[in-house]
Amino acid sequence: MKPSGTTSTTAAAPSVRETGAQPAWEVLLPAAGAPARRRGRALQEALREAVRSGRLTAGTRLPSSRALAQDLGVSRGLVTEAYEQLTAEGYLRSDRGSGTWVGGAVRTGRTAPDPDPRTPAAPGSGVIADFRPGTPDLSLFPRTAWAAAQRTVLSELPHSALGYPDPRGLPVLRSALAALLGRRRGVVADPGRLVVCSGVAQAATLLGSVLRARGHHGVGVEDPGSPEHARLFAATGLDTVWLPLDEEGLRRAPLSRSGTRAVVVTPSHQFPSGIAWSAERRGMLLDWARSVDGYVCEDDYDGDFRYDRAPVGALQGLDPERVVYTGSVSKSLAPGLRLGWMVLPESLVDEVVERKRTMDLGHPALDQAALAHLVTSGGYDRQLRRCQRAYRERRDALLAALDEHFPGTEVTGIAAGLHVIARLPARYGPTRRFLEVAAGVGVALRSLEEYGTARPADGAVRLVVGYAHLTPATITAGMRRTAEALGTR
Ligand SMILES: Cc1ncc(COP(=O)(O)O)c(C=O)c1O
Repeated sequence: MKPSGTTSTTAAAPSVRETGAQPAWEVLLPAAGAPARRRGRALQEALREAVRSGRLTAGTRLPSSRALAQDLGVSRGLVTEAYEQLTAEGYLRSDRGSGTWVGGAVRTGRTAPDPDPRTPAAPGSGVIADFRPGTPDLSLFPRTAWAAAQRTVLSELPHSALGYPDPRGLPVLRSALAALLGRRRGVVADPGRLVVCSGVAQAATLLGSVLRARGHHGVGVEDPGSPEHARLFAATGLDTVWLPLDEEGLRRAPLSRSGTRAVVVTPSHQFPSGIAWSAERRGMLLDWARSVDGYVCEDDYDGDFRYDRAPVGALQGLDPERVVYTGSVSKSLAPGLRLGWMVLPESLVDEVVERKRTMDLGHPALDQAALAHLVTSGGYDRQLRRCQRAYRERRDALLAALDEHFPGTEVTGIAAGLHVIARLPARYGPTRRFLEVAAGVGVALRSLEEYGTARPADGAVRLVVGYAHLTPATITAGMRRTAEALGTR
């Protein structure tokens, strides 16, 4: 959709060199000079920052990818990729055949610094392949690096660091996380607005109780969505309102009807459907939040794992005053650490920090210091790269196994995360029988129906299949066994 009400939308876009006054995309030149390996990413970061800072204003038409590539002296593919990525994130809008325009991202004036799937089957339970989603591969936990980090901080921390910690978290960790989230996820993260907590779960509890105290009565949750979101917010006294998703995200009408002024969403890789919210719906959600003076809680639960495309940046980067960004190490390191974070709008910081203080007087200092060390030493990035390689291989093994043993299956949500959605043709159904037969041969699976209220009548078997914690051999064996037991091979 073309932005309206601006004169610049019809003006031809000048090239970098042709005007005397410096055009806004001159700001991209340093990125174009970055080493080849980092050039694409640098270009995307520079463009994102130019929109955020207001240097490129909403409605500005960008040069064609060919013209900009020529001007910057970079390949056209890099520019096309940057345009596509930022369009997906909502910073740009593209109008096929007509051009690319700066979208309506909010100017913040701030810059970013550089059912219980959680319980795996017990050994000896007869389960040979547990495809329930939610757990990373715990055997990949970087024990050596974590032990080294613990040793270092124990020997270096002064005695005073063993007192009650700052309820917001150790300054060293907040700075490290702010830089990490800015760099990896496009989060506008000021350490002063970052609160360290016990995972997304505590973030939801803190936020829910603050909203309740402010007079909120309900919170919207995605349908299908995480049952955990509903449970956590409900425990703070808020009513949860299920809001149906389509293939692009939430729609405005049910949001407006819900009567709530807060919603919890997973826009980068929706849980469980795996879709990335479209740029339009991301923009719509933020418009809605502004119009009701409300908040969006963004759960970036598996934001670190992307396989076939650049990550979709966090929604928070588009409007840090309306979005509460939450994340944790539960997928990247281990859920047992109970370490997470929230990046807050200025208007919520004091109340959330006070809740955190009265809840537990702050997060354990030694674990915080160890995580800060892992992040600043580069160990955390190494761990993410290691997991990414392993998980991509497992995902590919799952796709191959589904293709071989359940021909005709459509698989979606494959570009990211630790699970996919598999839609098996109706001849493998009905769903209940499928799950029972699989369980009978030691294969634990979950159906999509368990995560929401929709009951499609097409007879297809829709599964939410976690793969990250399973070896390729287990994945293949699990699918083969199920197909054999069903008698479909
Ligand atoms: C979508 C989603 N987000 C977050 C969580 C909780 O994460 P954390 O371990 O960070 O508290 C869960 C756990 O079940 C989940 O399903």
